[in-house]
Amino acid sequence: MYLYVVDDYKELSKKAASLVAGQILAKPDSILGFATGSTPEGMYAELVKMYEAGEINFKNVESFNLDEYCGLDKNHNQSYHYFMNKHLFSKINMLPNNIRIPNGLTDNMFDECLTYEENIDMCLQIDLQILGLGHNGHIGFNEPSDHFSYQTHCVELSQSTREANARFFEGGIDEVPTHAITMGIGTILRTKRILLLVSGSSKAKILKKVLKGTVTPQVPASILRFHDDVIVIADKEAAAELYEN
Ligand code: GLP
Repeated sequence: MYLYVVDDYKELSKKAASLVAGQILAKPDSILGFATGSTPEGMYAELVKMYEAGEINFKNVESFNLDEYCGLDKNHNQSYHYFMNKHLFSKINMLPNNIRIPNGLTDNMFDECLTYEENIDMCLQIDLQILGLGHNGHIGFNEPSDHFSYQTHCVELSQSTREANARFFEGGIDEVPTHAITMGIGTILRTKRILLLVSGSSKAKILKKVLKGTVTPQVPASILRFHDDVIVIADKEAAAELYEN
């Protein structure tokens, strides 16, 4: 595991974008795993700038998103479909058929999750999976639990996650969906390389647990320490507790 500690969010975004760009340049038909949340927004903005400057080309890139809320229409402004279109897909040249995001409106959840996982398997391996970190240590929507989930599945969101994400919903927590579809921890661990982005003082305590605490499903991201190619980019605020004592 490599840990880069950078000065601030801007530097984190640039560093993350340069690693993603490097992946695309090295393998133009890369399969990328995209994440949502506020943390990767700056990275997407940097990638769009590089694309506009002609430095990278997404024509042959394929992608799988980590997760999606259940019950939100694709056009709902808090769906992850909407997020990805707004921040990336509408601004680059990825082919629509190469973009996969779980369908949170499915009426056959079992089939949706199984097919999503099979589609990933058919591509053999995601080359680079981007992750943010939830305040309770979740990755994707894999919440603290008594076991690590194996593959794409439907989860009930914890109260703390719904509270954390309520800031994005006009009507507050009552509007935050109670369930989501997420890649499993196993799905994430099967990716070739993982890029974990962590920003801000509110993530300092959990980042310390992830990197230095016990590896436990109660802190889902702690399992990343068992993957052999993980890059963590944290800004100084997020890394503040790592070097105490
Ligand atoms: C959501 C997403 C996660 C994301 C997390 C943190 O719960 N499902 O993928 O990592 O939020 O979001 P933020 O970056 O806004 O702190």
